[in-house]
Amino acid sequence: MSHEAAQLKVEVVEVSRVGDVALIELAPYGGGELPAWRAGAHIDLRLPGDVVRQYSLCGPAGADRWRVGVLREVDGRGGSQWLVDHAEPGLVLGASQPRRHFAYEPSGATTVFLAGGIGVTPIAAMAAEAKAAGADYSVAYSGRTRASMALADELLEVHGERVALYVGDEGTRADLDAIMVAAGSGAVAYACGPAAYLDAAAAAASRHGVDLRVEHFTPVELAQPARDEAFEVELAMTGVTVEVQPGTSILQAVEEAGALVLSSCTEGTCGTCETPVLEGEVDHRDSILTPDERARNDVMYVCVSRAACPRLVLDL
Ligand code: FES
Repeated sequence: MSHEAAQLKVEVVEVSRVGDVALIELAPYGGGELPAWRAGAHIDLRLPGDVVRQYSLCGPAGADRWRVGVLREVDGRGGSQWLVDHAEPGLVLGASQPRRHFAYEPSGATTVFLAGGIGVTPIAAMAAEAKAAGADYSVAYSGRTRASMALADELLEVHGERVALYVGDEGTRADLDAIMVAAGSGAVAYACGPAAYLDAAAAAASRHGVDLRVEHFTPVELAQPARDEAFEVELAMTGVTVEVQPGTSILQAVEEAGALVLSSCTEGTCGTCETPVLEGEVDHRDSILTPDERARNDVMYVCVSRAACPRLVLDL
């Protein structure tokens, strides 16, 4: 069972639907103010049946409401389909504080925002922040059909010619190499979308010297763990040592030993279970950390990542 961060209650106050996407505006249930957030942040929403799902905030930062875009995923893990069909004003849901692992920081570098499908949600918030900061930026948004591209009209209205839409059934496709070449070596790109889209963006960025940051909505495909054998995890706060067997996650093992670790997605995408590493080498298996962050070996996501050595010491 997972332990989640302090819960808020939010009420749906407005819903608009574009294709299979519902744009849902949320206000604090019973009044008050919602916590502040920055572009790239996401929240957990607790849905009926104790289902918890993560959604990027896509409304203007600083607004007194939150807005999320939810895609009806017929083949997904469930939850989002229910929300698209049932979100109506008055629906009350549990929500977490905003968390931000896909952080945009305005800089002097030319910046390209790349969105594929529902990946537009964090990208829309980032583009708004870039505009407010006076950054040099552009947005490339790809979708299957124009009618399915949530936020497309809003992006065009706010950012004008900085936005290019690529619509599959109209025969326009984003040429990621051309986009990276136009941005130039040393540019920064932020991308969010399906795994194949992110893989193509990563390949194009590395061919043209662009620094790419990505957010995955679904877990990256994992190679085999670095170790087949069990390993030990020492919980530094209590000195307790836990043995983690193959097929068991560190999260499961330390929870069985009585440690309290916040968790949510349990698939290495949301960042809730981030845990400081004090000793030992980590086999990082999450979809969050950049290669540089992995190399620092100072935090890990214990729901999926494992040990690349016989013993880890964690700040738990
Ligand atoms: S619980 Fe989401 S990354 Fe571990």
